[in-house]
Amino acid sequence: MQPLELVIEGDFVWTYGGYEPKISIPNIMNEIAVDYEFIGATGERSIATDILSLLLNMHDYNHQNGTHRELFEIEEVQVKKFIDEGLHSHAYLTQPRKLPTFWEIVKNPAQLAMPKILEAHLENFFPFMGLMHGNNKLLSLKECHFYLPETENQSRVFVLIYMKAHSPIAHLIKKNLLKLIDVVIEQDAKILSKIYTNTPQKVKLNNEVGMDWVRRNFESFPAVTEPNLSL
Ligand SMILES: [Fe+2]
Repeated sequence: MQPLELVIEGDFVWTYGGYEPKISIPNIMNEIAVDYEFIGATGERSIATDILSLLLNMHDYNHQNGTHRELFEIEEVQVKKFIDEGLHSHAYLTQPRKLPTFWEIVKNPAQLAMPKILEAHLENFFPFMGLMHGNNKLLSLKECHFYLPETENQSRVFVLIYMKAHSPIAHLIKKNLLKLIDVVIEQDAKILSKIYTNTPQKVKLNNEVGMDWVRRNFESFPAVTEPNLSL
C-alpha cells in the first residue's frame, strides 16, 4: 500500500489524501484548540451524495426550518449579514423559534442553551468546513463541521465540538450537546439520501446567498471569481 502523507500541526493530523494541495492548511483549528476545551467528535456519517450537493445543503440557510424543524422549531431564518471573502465567508442569521414542545427541557438539558431567538454566526471555509460560533450565558461554543469527498457519489461528514464554560451547568450538557449534533447530522444525511440533486432549480428562494457562494467557489476553485456576494 502507498503510505498516506500526513501533516501534523498542533493537536491535528491533516491529509490531502494523496492529492496535490490547492489550498494551505488553515490555522483556525489551532486557534480554537488553544482557547477552548475539546468536548468530542460527533455526527460522523458517510453519505451517499456528491460533495457539491452536500455543501449546497449545509450552506442552505432555508434548510434549518425544513430539515431540522422538529429539533429546533425554527419558524423563520433571516440572513442579517453575509461577508464574502472569497473561499472564506461569514453569515449572520437570526432565527425566531417556537418554545420547546418535542424536546422538553427535562429530557434534554441542552434546551437550556437554546433561547427563543437563535442567533447564529457561521464562518465558512470552502470547501472543507463550516464553523458555528455559539455564545450565550452558559457557554461559548465552536462547532466545526467537516465536509470531505470520498468518491464521486459518497461524502463524509463529522463534527468536532469545542466549548468554553461560563457556568458549571455548561459541563452537565456536554453529552447532550454531542447527542444533539448527532441528531442534526442524521437529519441532514436522511434528506441528502432522498433529494434529487440533478433536478434543475426553477424557483429562487430568499436566503440562498450561502448556496450561491458554494456554487461560485465550486466552479472556479481554488481561484475566486466575481461576483462578490456580500450582503
Ligand atoms: Fe443541516
